[in-house]
Amino acid sequence: MLKEMKMEDREKYYIETFGCQMNEFDSERISYLLENEGYEKTSDIEKAKIIVINTCSVRERADNRLYGHIGNLKALKVKKPEIIICIGGCTAQSLKEKIIDDFPYVDIVFGTGVVNNLPELIKKRKLLKQSLCDASLNDSHHNIYNFKRTYKFKAFIPVTIGCNNFCSYCIVPFVRGRERSISSNDIIKTINDLVLDGVIEVMLLGQNVNSYGYGLKDSLSFAELLEEISKIHGLERIRFMTSHPKDFSENIVRVIKNNKNIVKHIHLPLQAGSNKILELMNRKYSREDFINLVSMIKKEIPGCTITTDIIVGFPGEDYKDFNDTLEIVKKLKFNRAFTFIYSKRKGTNAFEMPDSVPIEEKKKWFKELVDTQNNISYEENRKLVGRKFKVLVEGLSTKKGTILEGRLENNTIVNFDGETDLIGKLIWVDITDAKSFYLLGNISK
Ligand code: SAH
Ligand code: SF4
Ligand code: F3S
Repeated sequence: MLKEMKMEDREKYYIETFGCQMNEFDSERISYLLENEGYEKTSDIEKAKIIVINTCSVRERADNRLYGHIGNLKALKVKKPEIIICIGGCTAQSLKEKIIDDFPYVDIVFGTGVVNNLPELIKKRKLLKQSLCDASLNDSHHNIYNFKRTYKFKAFIPVTIGCNNFCSYCIVPFVRGRERSISSNDIIKTINDLVLDGVIEVMLLGQNVNSYGYGLKDSLSFAELLEEISKIHGLERIRFMTSHPKDFSENIVRVIKNNKNIVKHIHLPLQAGSNKILELMNRKYSREDFINLVSMIKKEIPGCTITTDIIVGFPGEDYKDFNDTLEIVKKLKFNRAFTFIYSKRKGTNAFEMPDSVPIEEKKKWFKELVDTQNNISYEENRKLVGRKFKVLVEGLSTKKGTILEGRLENNTIVNFDGETDLIGKLIWVDITDAKSFYLLGNISK
């Protein structure tokens, strides 16, 4: 029946994703579910019958962006009352009915644990004349690997969902629930199938992939899981994130080192360099632990790149604490750091902590950190100029003058000229120039 329906007759859905890779993966699940119901994707919001906004609430700015965005949808709803506006993701999870209270023209609010229920909610909404909210968190990662692939050649694969760490600033454990691991059989079978279908790179996802297996009976550890996945024939690159420093074992280092298809890149969030702040953040490692871990990784896996996340202006942080962070940044020379000014999240432990440093001051520290790190990123990238690397061509470049964009094994982006039929292939590229955040190159002759 569905197959017989002509493309142009199908109702359209439009989906927008605001969050992290996990959020993007959920959007791929949502697309799968909606297409299974006969809807067809459109990038033109005006043509859509179903509008899905998949939200993030990790920082306040993300929430505000959503509020602006839902506000803008009102005109559309007034013009076309038959459209169904669905708000999903982490803000939907944290605010629940409040979204409908604030924006009565929103039709459906669905939390992170009930993605599978969306088609049912839409059917129900078509029958009823009231907005619906479903945000129970008892998920069910049931059928999690039913997703619509965005790329032919690479895929995200969640291995754990949720988080048990309760870093004091972080809303994720509240909006994603407790950590659950997916069985290694399911993971391996799914990746096997993807590889048979043309995938050459997977990115294993979890808030803390290193604690994989916790709570599963007789489960593999993360190191063992990586090792099993690395045996899949035809899988060229295995990425994974995020690694929590407290659980990063020597076994993981050994497996990365010994398997060619596991990338030599580790995203290892530092968050702060002062022991006082790390303790207040509930990160469960000291600055010394972090420095030792990075030194060990660099010694064991030569050429391994390390990227990180850093928060500036956590409650109680003074310039001396901030300077501890700056010192680590200078010492460890991360290839790249994702830096954020602390944002207060309701419900987290840090919400109540006294915070006396004015935002202007935090912005100055932030700028100092960003300038320092940008110089380091540039210097690190410059070391690659004149060398030749294997690059996975990922798509069209957004930079002027070049056509293609690809990624080195170490996660650095390179832009170069070439034919678009190279997209999805691994090729060799000579690096000719460096910027802070990307490289320029030529396809090797
Ligand atoms: N699970 C991952 C990532 C979580 S969110 C981890 O443990 O690292 C991604 C990043 O957002 C975090 O690493 C942190 O640097 C930042 N972040 C989280 N909550 C924040 C907050 N309240 N304010 C500012 N940055 C925050
Ligand atoms: Fe948030 Fe910490 Fe969990 Fe990462 S490990 S998701 S920062 S609570
Ligand atoms: Fe991701 Fe944002 Fe949720 S970072 S887990 S989409 S709060």
